Amino acid sequence: MSHGHSHQHGHPHEGRDDGADEDAAHRRVLDLDAEVFGAQLGAVLDLLGPSAPPRHVVDLGAGTGTGSRLLRDRFPAATVTAVDSDPRMLRALAGQGFVVLAADLDEGFPAALHGADLVWAASSLHHVREVPRLLAGVRAALTPDGVLAVVELEDLPRFTAEPVEDRARAAARAAGWNHHPDWTPHLVQAGFTVERHDLVLDVAPSAAAEEFARAWLPRYLTVPGFDEGPAVQTLLDGDLVLEPRALRAVWVAR
Ligand SMILES: C[S@@+](CC[C@H](N)C(=O)[O-])C[C@H]1O[C@@H](n2cnc3c(N)ncnc32)[C@H](O)[C@@H]1O
Repeated sequence: MSHGHSHQHGHPHEGRDDGADEDAAHRRVLDLDAEVFGAQLGAVLDLLGPSAPPRHVVDLGAGTGTGSRLLRDRFPAATVTAVDSDPRMLRALAGQGFVVLAADLDEGFPAALHGADLVWAASSLHHVREVPRLLAGVRAALTPDGVLAVVELEDLPRFTAEPVEDRARAAARAAGWNHHPDWTPHLVQAGFTVERHDLVLDVAPSAAAEEFARAWLPRYLTVPGFDEGPAVQTLLDGDLVLEPRALRAVWVAR
């Protein structure tokens, strides 16, 4: 699996679910991810360096708005335009007061957004089929001092220090969960100068982290060839000792 639309598992932002209940559960997981790790994600914005505050910010594949909210909080004077192709996400984003734009990023960067100073693409670029076209469009649309920030989950979230969770994560990785390309050559090809950073986001245990863990860990029961389901179930049946950690890979492209 690379950046196809066929991911089924393994990403707090993914899960192509059928049915309203599963859909709601998927959105809840997205929100829990934001609640648990979202504040630390602000560290990504610290990597963008000292330049004038952006005025036109674009969140590509905005989803439930984790990045859009972060960007609005950090740059209150900016207009944040949230772009997505999923009408349910767009409704949720509009409800939060964002300017929303329905667009299929496979068709390139929306022409209406020319003149952006900051383009943010978190856990979305790997969904796009026509990445060179999109990146060329972003580069052409950015102001001369503009910056593109691409963020991916560098690893599956970790909730406990239990060895069985490590083994489950390793099995899921081996099964292709959470795969994303190294975007550096793609960005260089599109004419950007690129810095890559790896961020470790450690957060304190909380009720939201526990809810996230309890929603997330059962997914490992579906990893092909992973036969430690009973041990994962034992973990879930007990008191979880949480040590939540997420790893993000960040490409800052100018
Ligand atoms: C995994 S979610 C990430 C959401 C958000 N950026 C975050 O970090 O929580 C990916 C989002 O990209 C959107 N997306 C995927 N392919 C797209 C495309 N071709 N055009 C526009 N949006 C797309 C999906 O609808 C989804 O909301």
